[in-house]
Amino acid sequence: MTKPEVIAQLVPKRLPAPKKTVTAFAPSNIALCKYWGKRDAELNLPTAPSLSISLGRLGSEVTLTPCADHDRYTLNGRRLLPECVFARRASAFFDLFRPHKQFFLEVVARNTIPTAAGLASSASGFAALTLALNDLLGWKLDRRKLSILARLGSGSACRSLFEGFVEWRVGKAADGLDSFAEPLPTRWPDLRVGLVVLSKQEKPIGSRDAMAHTRATSPLYAAWPATVERDFAALKEAIRRRDFTRLGELAEGNALAMHATMLAARPAVVYCLPESLEAMQAVRALRADGCEVYFTMDAGPNLKLLFRKPDLRGIVKRFPEVQVVAPFA
Ligand code: DP6
Repeated sequence: MTKPEVIAQLVPKRLPAPKKTVTAFAPSNIALCKYWGKRDAELNLPTAPSLSISLGRLGSEVTLTPCADHDRYTLNGRRLLPECVFARRASAFFDLFRPHKQFFLEVVARNTIPTAAGLASSASGFAALTLALNDLLGWKLDRRKLSILARLGSGSACRSLFEGFVEWRVGKAADGLDSFAEPLPTRWPDLRVGLVVLSKQEKPIGSRDAMAHTRATSPLYAAWPATVERDFAALKEAIRRRDFTRLGELAEGNALAMHATMLAARPAVVYCLPESLEAMQAVRALRADGCEVYFTMDAGPNLKLLFRKPDLRGIVKRFPEVQVVAPFA
């Protein structure tokens, strides 16, 4: 099944004339139970479900304006070269939807989350682009369908169409029409996410390639999908019961298990820096001291902390640079 075949089932054929310019925003999301492995690389269909939390006002805002000759990109006030990864991936995504061959877009994007540090994944970017295209081209699609389209740009982007806790259904159809994200009903006002930037260096390998390489070569990968199924079900239950200890233990364990699959890949994919390990130890020491905080970590060296509002002071004391997000504020 190809992307155009899926899109033909979702996007209306008869459309109004494109608007002059539109702006859309989508939040970043942090997976508490990770998406790590695809059953279909063309459609970004996952091998297992995943569960994330969206980061409120931290994310990507994009403005699209039709223009002549070629796509143009500005990110945080700077022009991007057309051959940079984001521009190439976004233009390939637009190729799927251009009303005619000479239809190009001027993209002005602004990330409200630190881009350099691997904290801004492609998720919020592709989600915002999808929302903007829906408005610009008059698709009038609901969020579920937009979540499916955003997934074609980047898997984790399907979760950035929603606020709060979000699950991504694994689905089983070959066309992926049953693999979309949807929000969970639980709101958790005193839950906090702390972003700890430990390195601004470029990552050795992006998540897309690391995921494929791990699945293909890691002897530990075989145990991963079943681990995720279990963690996913338990996390959903912990969220429903607002059991923070369980949520934290599951999220931390799931992240470490994902990194274990990468460490066993050949050659190994190592995102951890000495600073990452030191920060993990510090989180554990805080916990031993009664400040209940857990970490999760994606395809990069930085940590995301999970805690509740009353523990903020203790965390800021140990991580003075932490950027705190209140996802349900
Ligand atoms: C570690 O969504 O970036 O952040 O579908 O190839 O674009 P593609 O991958 P991507 O992978 C995200 C991986 C992760 C875990 C997660 O967000 O669930």
